[in-house]
Amino acid sequence: MSRIELFKHFVKKPGEIGAVCPSSTYLAKTITSEIEIEKALNVVEIGPGTGVFTEKIIPNLHKNANFFVIELNKELHLLFEKTFPEIKSYNNCASELANIMKDQKIDSIDVVISGLPWASFPKKLQNEVLHTIFDSLAPGGVFTTFAYLQGFLMKGAHSFKALLKETFDEVETSKTVWRNFPPAFVYRCKKKK
Ligand SMILES: C[S@@+](CC[C@H](N)C(=O)[O-])C[C@H]1O[C@@H](n2cnc3c(N)ncnc32)[C@H](O)[C@@H]1O
Repeated sequence: MSRIELFKHFVKKPGEIGAVCPSSTYLAKTITSEIEIEKALNVVEIGPGTGVFTEKIIPNLHKNANFFVIELNKELHLLFEKTFPEIKSYNNCASELANIMKDQKIDSIDVVISGLPWASFPKKLQNEVLHTIFDSLAPGGVFTTFAYLQGFLMKGAHSFKALLKETFDEVETSKTVWRNFPPAFVYRCKKKK
């Protein structure tokens, strides 16, 4: 069901969805590891799609954590609400994060996990969303996202990598996750304390 849902939306809006099928559980495990999610009190996932990463995030959350998601696609958001009725979700653009934080009554976020299709975004949107995320992070906060290996054929993947390096104090990349279609890797980026 979820594979078909994401593919259907990819056909309608390829630049917004950026993936023909949901990520694998191997990629979900990599993106949620080494970020000390279990200690974080404010956690946001952006672009959850069918919720593959969400499934791995939930069992690792601190018992007092405040967790919410932001999903732009209206139908995927509805599907998300049905699958995870207990999780607060916003049908909005990631660039609205600061306003959503006001609604949540929080000043900063400890961990941001993103499934956004950065390489397909125009440079202006990459800049706007990444700076919004950076500004939302607490000192020592972590931002993690993934990229496809074959994405480096796209100009957007190079500009995104350069943008990460000029924005964050530390940018680390994981090993390639081969058990994902297409193979991918994770960026882990840290704001200094
Ligand atoms: C590549 S899919 C990833 C879905 C899921 N995280 C996974 O890995 O299977 C990208 C997701 O980001 C959402 N998205 C795209 N642009 C967005 C934006 N500006 N704000 C919030 N969500 C967005 C899409 O609707 C889609 O659900």
